[in-house]
Amino acid sequence: MKKVAILISGSGSNMVTLAQSMTGDHPARPCVVLSNRPDAGGLEKARALGIETVVVDHKDYKGDRDAFDAAVIAALDPYSPDIIALAGFMRILTPDFITHYAGKMLNIHPSLLPKYKGLHTHQRAIDAGDRQAGCSVHEVTAELDGGPILAQGRVDILPDDTADDLAARVLPLEHKIYPETLLRFAKGDRSRVDI
Ligand code: GAR
Repeated sequence: MKKVAILISGSGSNMVTLAQSMTGDHPARPCVVLSNRPDAGGLEKARALGIETVVVDHKDYKGDRDAFDAAVIAALDPYSPDIIALAGFMRILTPDFITHYAGKMLNIHPSLLPKYKGLHTHQRAIDAGDRQAGCSVHEVTAELDGGPILAQGRVDILPDDTADDLAARVLPLEHKIYPETLLRFAKGDRSRVDI
């Protein structure tokens, strides 16, 4: 059975869908949910699902990314995770961290990568006059939001859409493609599936 560490910063809705998918004959189970924010709403949801939680507060490291990432590694390694799933984890990870877990990391990003890496993805898609927006699950490499794409989901952008409207329509797609991709990844399948 593969062990999955899920990293969050916020409400943790993707974490919940990932955790709830790992039942029955699924080849993986969640081993820990780690948050960089002590007030992340997802922590309580993880505990309610019976998953161990850990907080490594980035504010304790005063901008020292190397020290923060070393603390995250020190918190995760006792669980011997086979897969690290970033689920709304809003910290940029250092190359050392990514090397440590090379080939084991997934992320969900709310854009049709390679468009709109980074923040404010939905507003940028609207401002650019795009007809579609969406979300991508990708492997994590040293290039921010730049690793191989394993899945994408897309929605039409409607004439009066705000970024919040778009986020509300894309989030259910995230909840569909992330568990599906995690299942394939846990089985060693790194092909790309778009819906
Ligand atoms: C999701 O929309 C996810 O795609 C995004 O944060 C949200 C987290 O929601 N991630 C990023 O922007 C990563 N750069 P959740 O906490 O409810 O899963």
